Amino acid sequence: MLMNDSYDRKIDYLRISITDRCNLRCLYCMPAEGIQRMKHSEILRYEEIEAVVRAAADLGVSKIRLTGGEPLVRPGVVDLVRILKSVPGIDNISLTTNAILLEQFAQPLADAGLDRVNISIDTLDAENFKTITRLGDIEKVFAGITAAADAGLTPIKINTVVIRGFNDHEIIDLSDWALQRGLNLRFIEFMPVNDSSFTFDEKFISSDDIREKIFEHYPDMEPCKISGSGPAVNWRRNGDAGSLGIIEAVSHSFCSSCNRIRLTADGKLKPCLFSNEEVDLIPALRDGDLDRHEQLEKLIAEAVVRKPASHRDFTRVNSESRCMNEIGG
Ligand code: GTP
Ligand code: 5AD
Ligand code: SF4
Repeated sequence: MLMNDSYDRKIDYLRISITDRCNLRCLYCMPAEGIQRMKHSEILRYEEIEAVVRAAADLGVSKIRLTGGEPLVRPGVVDLVRILKSVPGIDNISLTTNAILLEQFAQPLADAGLDRVNISIDTLDAENFKTITRLGDIEKVFAGITAAADAGLTPIKINTVVIRGFNDHEIIDLSDWALQRGLNLRFIEFMPVNDSSFTFDEKFISSDDIREKIFEHYPDMEPCKISGSGPAVNWRRNGDAGSLGIIEAVSHSFCSSCNRIRLTADGKLKPCLFSNEEVDLIPALRDGDLDRHEQLEKLIAEAVVRKPASHRDFTRVNSESRCMNEIGG
């Protein structure tokens, strides 16, 4: 059975945030201090995540993406991949990571059945990297990318959030770097999220400006499709394995083709990244009197029905919303 929402979009993709913790503190994502952490008891156990995925798969979900925080900081993530990959109906599992721990995890994850990874890196400069992440070592990210390629976790997509005055001067350097390595780089418009240290109006650069820079330098790029179901528009030069793309969530809404719902680490389904609406799965998961599978199917279907047609005005911070590290992007 396939799930269509009220606007006839086919929902076949579940993003699962498995932890709100992260080993970095990116300026646009998390505050340096005073972070409200989820309690251990609130976080879904792997057995509970599996139950949700089994119900979602029975409703037509075939793609899973694990996110965080940083998913690789949660112990046992390799086992989780193995468990989810064996759920009937799930044919693709991917993971979005900052790659700090990927060098050691890439091969075990591939062996467990992970299909591919998306890696966040916003600059090629070691000092800039330390600034934006507040504590990261860029060499670890480079080593993680190499290990992912060696383990066959491809296509490797690179996520680069473009921030005025921070990395906009690196757009061409990052592009050259990605194309030389056969990577699929996507420049992401900076989205206004809670607890960012940046002021949206000062730091936002529109996809039109990014596109202009790209085409000025590479006039011979052609539109292309990269495997996966992401919201990016992509271009490639004839003969290149790598590609460049843009995720223009702010200036050009892609809501009409949205195929996803999200599960937070504390067991709430979010029909839309930018809506505060949530469907709580905890009672169904933890109340022993109920038929868990049936209850979960009902709640997942409810979240799909409650998917809004599109997001609200996307140029203001929604102060009620969860921080990005709790949603997983
Ligand atoms: P692929 O399936 O590999 O293309 O993944 P993806 O691009 O959907 O996932 P990833 O976790 O790499 O996210 C990249 C960027 O896209 C992040 O900044 C996300 O916040 C953003 N993004 C992903 N899904 C949505 C969405 O439904 N709406 C909006 N506005 N942004 C999204
Ligand atoms: N705007 C755009 N992208 C963001 N991400 C995190 N916060 C923001 C934001 N404010 C991206 C990360 C990661 C992905 C999951 O979400 O860079 O690649
Ligand atoms: Fe961690 Fe990703 Fe947020 Fe950076 S953007 S602090 S790596 S969750």
